[in-house]
Amino acid sequence: MLGFSRHDVKVAALAIVMMLVMPGLQPTPRVPDTSYRANPSTLQQHVEYFDRNRDGVISLPETFESLNRLGFNWWGNFYRAPFINWGLTMGLYVKGFPPLSLSSLISPAFWNHLLSFDFQLRVPIQTIHQTIHPSDSGVYDKNGQFNEAKFERLMSFDKAGKGGINRCEMTRFIKANNNPPDVPGNIGSKFEWFNVFEILHDDKGVMSREKLLKMYNGSVFEEIERAVAAKKGIQTVRTSAMKNDA
Ligand SMILES: *[C@@H]1O[C@H](CO)[C@@H](O)[C@H](O)[C@H]1NC(C)=O
Repeated sequence: MLGFSRHDVKVAALAIVMMLVMPGLQPTPRVPDTSYRANPSTLQQHVEYFDRNRDGVISLPETFESLNRLGFNWWGNFYRAPFINWGLTMGLYVKGFPPLSLSSLISPAFWNHLLSFDFQLRVPIQTIHQTIHPSDSGVYDKNGQFNEAKFERLMSFDKAGKGGINRCEMTRFIKANNNPPDVPGNIGSKFEWFNVFEILHDDKGVMSREKLLKMYNGSVFEEIERAVAAKKGIQTVRTSAMKNDA
C-alpha cells in the first residue's frame, strides 16, 4: 500500500515496544542485601566462609582465595573458582526471570532482568537458596535449611556402618540423586561432591558423619583452613632447615 513490507512493520513494532519499555528500565541496584544475617539458613552459613569481606556477596577473587586457603591446588583454582561462580550466577539468572509470556516482552521487569546478568559473576548470599537444583540431595531444603531426614538418607549409603561415606558410596549417592533432565545440576553436583571429598576425607578415604555435618553448616571450613595453614607452616620450617643443612 504505502510501500511497507512485512519486515518494516515488524521492525516498527519492535521499536514501539522498546520505546514503551525503555523509560521503565533501570539498572538493577547492586547493593548487597545482608538482612539474612539476622537469621541465616544452613546453606547461608555454609557459603558465609567464602564471603571474605563479609559484604553479602561472593566475588570471583573471594572464591579463589577461599579455595587456596582450603588447600586446593592453586592452578586448579583458576578453573574451579570461575566454574563455581559462573554456575551459581547462571542459576540465579535463569531462575530470576519473571514468568515468560508474550506480554512479558513489554514488561520492564523482563527487560531489566534480561540486562541484569552480572558478568563479574558475583553471587549474592541473600538469594543463594535459588541455586538449589533438582539433582541436589535435598539435605538443604528449598529454603536452604538443613533437612535431617535427608541427611540420614545420605548416611544410609554407609553400608558397613563405619560412621562415614567413602568415595564409592558418594558416587552411588550422586547417581541416586541424578535427575536426567537437569544436566547442569548433575554436572554441578558431581563437581561439588568431588571437591568436597578432596578436603573432607581422612587417611582411610572416609568422610565422617561429624565432618559432613560441619561441612553442611560451614564450620568445617575454618578448621580445614587452620589445618592447611599449620601444615604449610611446618613445610616452611622444613624448607629453611634444609637450606641450612646445604
Ligand atoms: C555445625 O555442626 C556441628 C556438628 O553438628 C556442630 O558441632 C556445630 O556447633 C555447628 N556449628 C554451627 C555454627 O551451627
